[in-house]
Amino acid sequence: MHSVGYRANALLTFAVTILALMCGMASLSDNFNSPFPSAQVQVLNINWFQKQPNANDEISMTLNISADLQSLFTWNTKQVFVFLAAEYETPKHSLNQISLWDGIIPSKEHAKFWIHTSNKYRFIDQVHKSKHVL
Ligand SMILES: *[C@@H]1O[C@H](CO)[C@@H](O)[C@H](O)[C@H]1NC(C)=O
Repeated sequence: MHSVGYRANALLTFAVTILALMCGMASLSDNFNSPFPSAQVQVLNINWFQKQPNANDEISMTLNISADLQSLFTWNTKQVFVFLAAEYETPKHSLNQISLWDGIIPSKEHAKFWIHTSNKYRFIDQVHKSKHVL
């Protein structure tokens, strides 16, 4: 005769096993998704280009960012974080990266978009050499 405790233990073990199996299947099934995100960025306008007294250059620009990130969303995706970084070369540093914009895509419905925006974060080159960007 099995005691109540023994039965409860067996039931709990079974439940946890099924849960673990479902978690495993959930993360495995995501591997079959092959996402094909696409994005385009256009610089529509250079609003201003400033040489600051402390020798840093700063640029403000208007961007048209369009992206289709819908394929990144599976039932296992909560949200997608996107950012736009400018990469450029200067004589001193072969790779400079500055984040210009970012956003959080909360759902598949919001994953295909275009926005017309100026750079959200200040685009400052520390070494007075951003002439090379343009
Ligand atoms: C921005 O890009 C989108 C998609 O490429 C285009 O439809 C739209 O006309 C562009 N907007 C401007 C202001 O250039």
